[in-house]
Amino acid sequence: MNTYIGIDIGTSGTKLLLVSSDGAILSQSVREYGVSYPREGWSEQSPELWYDAVMTGLKKLLCGQDKSAVKGISFGGQMHGLVALDKQGAVIRPCILWNDGRTEKQTKYLNEEIGKENLTKYTGNIAFAGFTAPKILWLRENEPENYEKIVKIMLPKDYVAYRLTGNFCSDCSDASGTLLLDVKNRRWSREMCSVCGISETQLPELFESYEVIGTLKREIAEELGLSADIKIIAGAGDNAAAAVGTGVVGEGANVSLGTSGTLFVAGEKYTMDAANALHSFCHADGGWHQMGCILSAASCNAWWSDQILQTADYAKEQEDLESELGKNGVYFLPYLMGERSPHNDVNARGAFIGMRPNTTRKQMTLAVLEGVTFALRDCLEAAKGNGIKVKKTKLCGGGAKSLLWRQIVADILNMPVEIPETEQGPAYGGAILAMVGCGEFSSVRQAAEAIAKVKEQILPNMERAQAYEEKYKIYGQLYPALKGVFARME
Ligand code: XUL
Repeated sequence: MNTYIGIDIGTSGTKLLLVSSDGAILSQSVREYGVSYPREGWSEQSPELWYDAVMTGLKKLLCGQDKSAVKGISFGGQMHGLVALDKQGAVIRPCILWNDGRTEKQTKYLNEEIGKENLTKYTGNIAFAGFTAPKILWLRENEPENYEKIVKIMLPKDYVAYRLTGNFCSDCSDASGTLLLDVKNRRWSREMCSVCGISETQLPELFESYEVIGTLKREIAEELGLSADIKIIAGAGDNAAAAVGTGVVGEGANVSLGTSGTLFVAGEKYTMDAANALHSFCHADGGWHQMGCILSAASCNAWWSDQILQTADYAKEQEDLESELGKNGVYFLPYLMGERSPHNDVNARGAFIGMRPNTTRKQMTLAVLEGVTFALRDCLEAAKGNGIKVKKTKLCGGGAKSLLWRQIVADILNMPVEIPETEQGPAYGGAILAMVGCGEFSSVRQAAEAIAKVKEQILPNMERAQAYEEKYKIYGQLYPALKGVFARME
């Protein structure tokens, strides 16, 4: 049976899956790495880290596997990162990541001087600090010597694909997050290129996520013991890839609890959020989606457990908490990296509120999981405000491994939550896109319907959902009350 490799270029690590054409996962490997925070609110990563992780990960993934069965490779990748290459194809500076907040001034310029209305007309979106376009403006202003050197601008997964194939390509879903794409017409926006002072030749050639962009470079194929005929398929931004991996194509919703948290709602037609709280992006199946993105999700629990509680045993911290659901008097605001949807505020901060002398460690752990989920509920409310009806959702990402968190998502979003067979949405979606690109299926929809299976459904508990409704009202008052204070913090 033919096999396919899906690679997720994530923020905390790169995950690789070897998947057979019937969807079975034959092998997996993870290479973890860190993020550097050179200044408050900044976040960067060296593109070399991803390439090394992919090469060492591929070797481990393929160890003991039939390499001649591998037909295609594709990707899901962290979105929005600015990778800039010079005329030799070398990386100019570390990638500025999706959750970096340094572009407050440039974001303000885009939204206020160019104007939200124009931006929306050109791209379907307004500017958010993590998007690529404000980072280009930041570079022009703050590192003119680097800006002058830019010959090519790329996104993280596209850089890896470029190293593997030598081709300079992107796909419409990931390109949507640059604020340089005319999302409705799936082409680069001339107006936005001119706003950012770049030419279209500096941008990658655009493909749909399931299209072939090239084949493995001969020397890389030799190093890996693979055939140089293996096809590389464009792939997608990690959230669109995750949606494919969980079977959210055509229509439907997916929640991802990764480093970021997202509510992704797929649609066959182009729509946009008039209030601009949600992003309006292309989907990997040829359609579109609206998405709310919170900058810190499972990363809040990782911060709380690893750094504060100093434990790696997340499950133990979450034991015996089910009876506490809906009763916690402690609230947590998950804005460790500022916030994207719906607040668009780089100055927002994390906060615990409501402690008493008898507040326990467990209640604070629960508050973290609940706070992240309330932030996703904010995204759901924004979607409802656009007339989008979400009746149930898939759930993926590292946080979806927690049985407690799954139940909290069902209770706070007050809808059934479906758990796919693998929580590794982006890598699995990448493998599915590779299958489509290699002709194993005629469309992403057909592939996802055949392969992405649900293993379990979690229903909301009505009583708790009611209690969380009340708590969500309190949660909703906390950010507006603290916004001004956050803005004054150093
Ligand atoms: C989406 C976003 C994040 C990153 C995380 O807009 O910024 O989900 O893609 O990898």
